[in-house]
Amino acid sequence: MALYSEKVMDHFRNPRNVGVIEDADGVGEVGNAKCGDIMKMYLKIEDGIVKDVKFETFGCGSAIASSSMATELIKGKPVEEARQLTNQAVAEALDGLPDYKMHCSVLAQEAIEAALKDYESKKEE
Ligand code: FES
Repeated sequence: MALYSEKVMDHFRNPRNVGVIEDADGVGEVGNAKCGDIMKMYLKIEDGIVKDVKFETFGCGSAIASSSMATELIKGKPVEEARQLTNQAVAEALDGLPDYKMHCSVLAQEAIEAALKDYESKKEE
């Protein structure tokens, strides 16, 4: 069996939603100290819906594929749903990741959590 699913390879080669949202409502940046990879998520939220999401990932192929898939999973969804996105759901949507690459999907979950936290704190101001 190939190490990576076709979906992982597809999202790695043609990542969706790469880039920056200049006037983002929430921005989250996380990193993994062990591998040194960094992921940044930008959210545009309107009426409680994730209207747009973009990411920049300085990291491995699985991290790029995970961020790409994570953006697809939350785009157009209510904030509440985005908040519940788990790294397992990201990995499943990619048709699986090797065990030792699961931490890459954790980065995607954490980046979205951080961006939503930033959004919440800005809203309270
Ligand atoms: Fe670190 Fe993939 S090896 S996020």
